[in-house]
Amino acid sequence: MKLCMIGTGYVGLVSGVCFADLGNEVICVDKDLNKIKKLKKGIIPIYEPGLEELVLKNYKNKRLKFSTNLSDSVSKSDIIFICVGTPIKKNNNGADLNQIYNVAKQISGSISKFKIIITKSTVPVTTGDEIEKIISKKKSKKLFTVVSNPEFLREGEAIRDFIYPDRVVIGTKDKKSNRILKNLYSPLISKGAKYLNTSRRAAELIKYASNSFLATKITFINEIANLCEKININIEDISIGMGLDKRIGSRFLRAGPAYGGSCFPKDTKAIITTADKFKINLSVIKSVIKSNDNRSLLLLKRIYELLNNKVKNKKICFLGVTFKANTDDMRDSSSLSMIPALIKKGAKINYYDPTGHKKEFSMLKDVTFSEDINTAIKFSDLIIIHTEWNDFKSINFKKNVKNKKFILFDVRNIYSSDKMKELKIKYFGIGR
Ligand code: UDX
Repeated sequence: MKLCMIGTGYVGLVSGVCFADLGNEVICVDKDLNKIKKLKKGIIPIYEPGLEELVLKNYKNKRLKFSTNLSDSVSKSDIIFICVGTPIKKNNNGADLNQIYNVAKQISGSISKFKIIITKSTVPVTTGDEIEKIISKKKSKKLFTVVSNPEFLREGEAIRDFIYPDRVVIGTKDKKSNRILKNLYSPLISKGAKYLNTSRRAAELIKYASNSFLATKITFINEIANLCEKININIEDISIGMGLDKRIGSRFLRAGPAYGGSCFPKDTKAIITTADKFKINLSVIKSVIKSNDNRSLLLLKRIYELLNNKVKNKKICFLGVTFKANTDDMRDSSSLSMIPALIKKGAKINYYDPTGHKKEFSMLKDVTFSEDINTAIKFSDLIIIHTEWNDFKSINFKKNVKNKKFILFDVRNIYSSDKMKELKIKYFGIGR
């Protein structure tokens, strides 16, 4: 099939490349000429394991093309995926849909034969209705249909999540589009993905409700971890015990720092704004946001306690600063609030991240970046394992840290408390 992905951010690029790899002809469009030039040279703008190889392979065999020309790409394609960003609005926490509506206007000028127009970006309920209105101002409804097909890709696992999704959700009541899209996704369905055809509005809401539910699950286990710390119980035993109940499930029950990233913080706020419009109080999600906002403060308090409230001039090392492992994404990472707070108290921060130096910290005095793990930890009084990269899983702390009284705060519970006890390392985890 001939596909056009508009927007070569995370969603558009990963989905476009994977669709090409499944044998489709895909044009990835972006208005950013520089980005497109780089993609044509095989330079990938984001860190995502496996993506570069897949881009090179499919670009070489000409199933994947890159372009800045939206109207030409739309007219050459049968299915158009809108994958542009829907950032949070500054004034009311809702999703900013300017880019979506601009793209819809541009598409409407380039339709001369039937097109399926799909929102893959996360968009609030009724956005599909608006897109339909915009396009129908210029084109007959016989020439197009607007479908919602939300993505559920996790950064760092995006390619695997695309190929082996739990479900493919298609929001349309149009039988022809449903048939075509079921066919497009048939290689994934035959590998076990469930296919759900529902209304467009339901598909839009499924995405927000799913992300809000996962954020709730994480926040719930984080609060239970706070209780575990007071009563000498290991949170992992609780997660395993709860997860064995099939109604609960074991995934997304790992306690840790505040959740972050490009989706959970944004989508939990946006669903509340949508509900407010309809005068519905989503009180559970509101408490989740509040609890998560509070989580970094709570961890900071714990750090001050670990240092006996003597933070001034303490050398603190962060291993990993992104919002989670296997990504270079800093969006809403808890390190963004924790590091400045520690500096304010007089700490000296040194960090290492497998994805390199971060511009977010370059203006901060007393924050330095180390090129490797051992240099980063060498002179530390306190080491904080902030993300769960494999690189951090077998560090010889005893050998490489000069200050023998160093403290290790493992906020991802990578190491075993017993092993650390044996090694006589002052070790602290989460919910233990
Ligand atoms: C999320 C959704 O999982 C994905 O389906 C959606 O399309 C985009 O948003 P992503 O933001 O890439 O994906 O990361 P995810 O792996 O879901 O983690 C989100 C946050 O939750 C991270 O901060 C992570 O550290 C945290 N998390 C996740 C936990 O603290 N514990 C867990 O058990 C799982």
